[in-house]
Amino acid sequence: MAMPVVNTEYLKEIDKARRDLRALISNRNCAPIMLRLAWHDAGTYCAKTKTGGPNASIRNDEECAHGANNGLKKAIDWCEEVKSKHPKITYADLYQLAGVVAVEVTGGPTVDFVPGRKDSNVCPKEGRLPDAKQGAPHLRDIFYRMGLTDKDIVALSGGHTLGRAHPERSGFDGPWTQDPLKFDNSYFLELLKGESEGLLQLPTDKTLVEDPAFRPFVDLYAKDEEAFFRDYAASHKKLSELGFTPSIGAKSPKDSTVLAQSAVGVAVAAAVVILSYIYEARKRV
Ligand code: HEM
Repeated sequence: MAMPVVNTEYLKEIDKARRDLRALISNRNCAPIMLRLAWHDAGTYCAKTKTGGPNASIRNDEECAHGANNGLKKAIDWCEEVKSKHPKITYADLYQLAGVVAVEVTGGPTVDFVPGRKDSNVCPKEGRLPDAKQGAPHLRDIFYRMGLTDKDIVALSGGHTLGRAHPERSGFDGPWTQDPLKFDNSYFLELLKGESEGLLQLPTDKTLVEDPAFRPFVDLYAKDEEAFFRDYAASHKKLSELGFTPSIGAKSPKDSTVLAQSAVGVAVAAAVVILSYIYEARKRV
C-alpha cells in the first residue's frame, strides 16, 4: 500500500482527527483499550525481518482473531468512526495517534507523534505478542526482537496504569491500579507493595520486580513520576515508530505549527526593517 503524502493538508487532517479522538476517548472512557490497540498493532515488529509493526495490519480479520487481540475489535470499530471523517489519514497513523491521545487525555505525558505510516494487509503469524504467563527471558525475547531495551520493557509496562483485564478476553481479571482511567506511576507503587485485594499483577508484571536488571527502573519510576513520564514518552514514541522512517519533511503537527509561526515572525521582522529603511531614506531626501 502507498505511503501517505504528508503535506500541509495531511497535517491538518491529523490535527482534526486528534481532536475527534480526544472527544471520542473522553466521552466513552475508552483510553485503555485504545492504548492496547496501538501497542498490539506496533508490538508485532521484528527488527531482523523488518515485518510487522505499526502498519494497521491488526484491522484484518486474520490478525484481529489472534488470541492476544481478543476484545480489540471494539477499538478498531471506534477508530473507524474517526477514519470515515478523515479518510485521507492511514489506519496505521490513526491507531498510533489514538494511543498517543489515550495517554494524553488520562493525564500522562505528551508523546511526540510524527505521521506518515503506511497501511499493510500482510499479517504476521500468531505469537509475536508477549504471553502474560511467562517470565523475564520471554519478555526479553519479545521486546529485543522489536529492537527495544530493558528500560523500554519496564517503562512501557507502565501502560498498565490504565485499564483492566477481562476474564472473557484474556482469562485474567481486574485492574492494576485504584484509578484505571488515570495515567500516573501508581502501577509501579502497587508492584512494590505486592499483591493487594482486588488488584491484578500478571506474572510478567511481577517479573519486573524480581529481575535484577528490571528492578532499578521499577524503583526509580515508583519514586519519581517525572522520570517515568520522560522515559515512557520516549519508549512509546519508539514503539509507535518501529520500522517506520518518516518521509523527509514530515514533521509532527506541533513542529509544523512552530515552523509556520517562526516563518511569519521572520517575515514581519523583515517588513519592519525594510519599511524603517524606506522611511529613513525618504526623511533624508
Ligand atoms: C509486557 C508485556 C505485556 C503483557 C504480557 C500484557 C498483557 C496484558 C493482558 C493479559 C491484558 C488484559 C487484556 C484483557 O483481558 O482485556 C492487558 C491489558 C492492557 N495492556 Fe498489556 N501487556 C503487556 C504490555 C503492555 C504494553 C507495553 C502496553 C502499553 C504501552 C500495555 C497496555 C495495556 C492496556 C492499556 C491494557 C488494558 C486494556 C483494557 O482495559 O481494555 N500492555 N495486557
